Amino acid sequence: MMTEKKGTYYITTPIYYPSSNLHIGHTYCTVMADAMARFKRLSGYDVHFLTGTDEHGQKIQTIAQEAGMSPQEYVDKVVEGIKKLWETMEISNDDFIRTTEPRHIERVQKMFMRMYEKGDIYKGEYEGLYCTPCESFWTESQLVDGCCPDCGRPVQAAKEEAYFFKLSKYAPALLELFEKNPDFLQPDTRRNEMVAFINQGLEDLCISRSTFDWGIPVPIDEKHVIYVWLDALTNYITALGWPDDTELYDKYWPADVHLVGKEIVRFHSIIWPAMLMSAELPLPKQVRGHGWLLIDGGKMSKSKGNIVDPVKLIDRYGIDALKYFLLREYTFGQDGIFTNEVMLRRMNYDLANDLGNLVSRTVSMIEKYCGGLVPGAGPEDEEGTDADLKSIAVSAAAKVEEQMDKFMFNMALEEIWILVRRANKYVDENTPWLLAKDEANRERLNTVMHNLAEALRIVSILIYPFMHTTSKEIRKQLGIWYADVVWEDAFVFDMLEGDQVKKGNPIFPRLDIEKELKELEEMNKPEEEPNIPLELKPEIEYDVFDKIDFRVGTVLKCEKHPKADKLLVFQIKMGTERRQIVSGVADSYSPEELVGKKVVVVANLKPRMLRGVESNGMLMFADNVVDGKERFEYITTLADDGNPVT
Ligand code: MSP
Repeated sequence: MMTEKKGTYYITTPIYYPSSNLHIGHTYCTVMADAMARFKRLSGYDVHFLTGTDEHGQKIQTIAQEAGMSPQEYVDKVVEGIKKLWETMEISNDDFIRTTEPRHIERVQKMFMRMYEKGDIYKGEYEGLYCTPCESFWTESQLVDGCCPDCGRPVQAAKEEAYFFKLSKYAPALLELFEKNPDFLQPDTRRNEMVAFINQGLEDLCISRSTFDWGIPVPIDEKHVIYVWLDALTNYITALGWPDDTELYDKYWPADVHLVGKEIVRFHSIIWPAMLMSAELPLPKQVRGHGWLLIDGGKMSKSKGNIVDPVKLIDRYGIDALKYFLLREYTFGQDGIFTNEVMLRRMNYDLANDLGNLVSRTVSMIEKYCGGLVPGAGPEDEEGTDADLKSIAVSAAAKVEEQMDKFMFNMALEEIWILVRRANKYVDENTPWLLAKDEANRERLNTVMHNLAEALRIVSILIYPFMHTTSKEIRKQLGIWYADVVWEDAFVFDMLEGDQVKKGNPIFPRLDIEKELKELEEMNKPEEEPNIPLELKPEIEYDVFDKIDFRVGTVLKCEKHPKADKLLVFQIKMGTERRQIVSGVADSYSPEELVGKKVVVVANLKPRMLRGVESNGMLMFADNVVDGKERFEYITTLADDGNPVT
């Protein structure tokens, strides 16, 4: 059968921050988008599926610096890993946009100018509470327990000259959007939150920064870079070529759906529509906010050491098993807890037992009882098992469609599994191995085998959007590997006869859950750093140590030694006293960065001349830290000026 063409469908994921490798939470969003894209393609839409990376901003700049790389080098490295992850997972995106690509940069500048020329951008001064990791300014009332409402980390007071977007101007239009178009933001609970947020009063949005330079320059002011959200959100149209190469834009914009995590719903359903209104462009048809995958009741984070790496799970269990678990276990819009045990149980019960078993027994029985050829069917049985199986099989596709329209991936899969379980029950009800004992039952046996093969063929179509590799494997075993997967074929029952089946390996091997749990735990243990004793001078007695008088001093002045490159000459204030000390740290510090810092002083060391300059004491720098880096700031913030630290 042919699939009728139904128009276009443009779906996007958020563009991910390449601050580090992606984890299972990010994978969850992309896997949902991929399943939807594949489902829409299969049901006849001309789909465009976009994902990418959001590469600018202070956070990336800082991380790159810490890694000793330029921001571009750093993001290039991480983005390569992200692209590889999606390739490994056979994610079917049509494009991948990086915000550091020239095509994006130029077009974001054009978006800025469009909003500026509309009179919606002005220069002002931003004063607020800034969360560096989230790159967001917050007002006092938005904080939760004094911390960032998104990530829970402390915020700092900050002030800077900046460009602003007149977001407040669009509050009435946004309220109207939510009121007139309840489908614009789903699920409903998210919409209520956004309406409440707008009703609190929208403030104008700061859209530039001048304190760092890793960003797209503001076209009218070189001192500023465009703040990440204006840069990032615009990706959804820059990737389509807006405004200078509009073939894809004309075809696919407005997007059918932006799939996003719940914490960025606000940016997508308030700021992005307002930006588009300002630029006089059509709004996306829908924003869908999904929940988070939580671990130990909280978000995954590097610092907690509870990141789940999708690559390790794929290596061990395969792409389809992981995708199935993510799509089947969690309800769209709600948070869900990730545990290895829940994952392994799903893989064993639903995949190895239910589906795996159905495939292997159907194919082996057709081989054993029917010479490997799918037989034709005879009349239906009086008990009604044939009719029941058929009716469930041919009605499943419509039910899957209904659930997919609501983004209820878990319910869509449940509809398919109702069929899988019914087919397994059908085997038990009809006991083909008993029928095979008497040639008089041949017609009945053929009917049962035919119906099972048909049910499995329909399953192979229905699971395609979620597990395309498994779908293909089932079709290979059913002898229909050459035929295209056509969605409409899931609505009809009698398509197979005479097809040559061929048993393959089990599609999902059974897992020993206890063993897997142990091995996964072992695998995820953070690698302990080796404890290698340092090489030190001979031990000293306590009374020797006790003779040293430690004080804390403040660096008043610091200059290069006139005659020695390695030495710096310090003027140090300790309580009431000022004195000069020479120290050999010129290789590690520049004099200006030390002024105002506090430092521990050995205050009773006998004075001595160093290359003609008198030194009255010794400054303590922790230059023996294991990673080889001096941690000057750290030790010197421990105590107050003049107080002994021992
Ligand atoms: N760069 C921005 C998005 C800009 S879109 C114009 C960003 N990036 S992110 O990498 O921090 O997050 C990307 C997406 O991953 C978000 O939708 C976020 O909700 C999702 N997830 C991150 N951790 C997650 C879980 N633990 N669980 C589910 N989704 C999670 O925000």
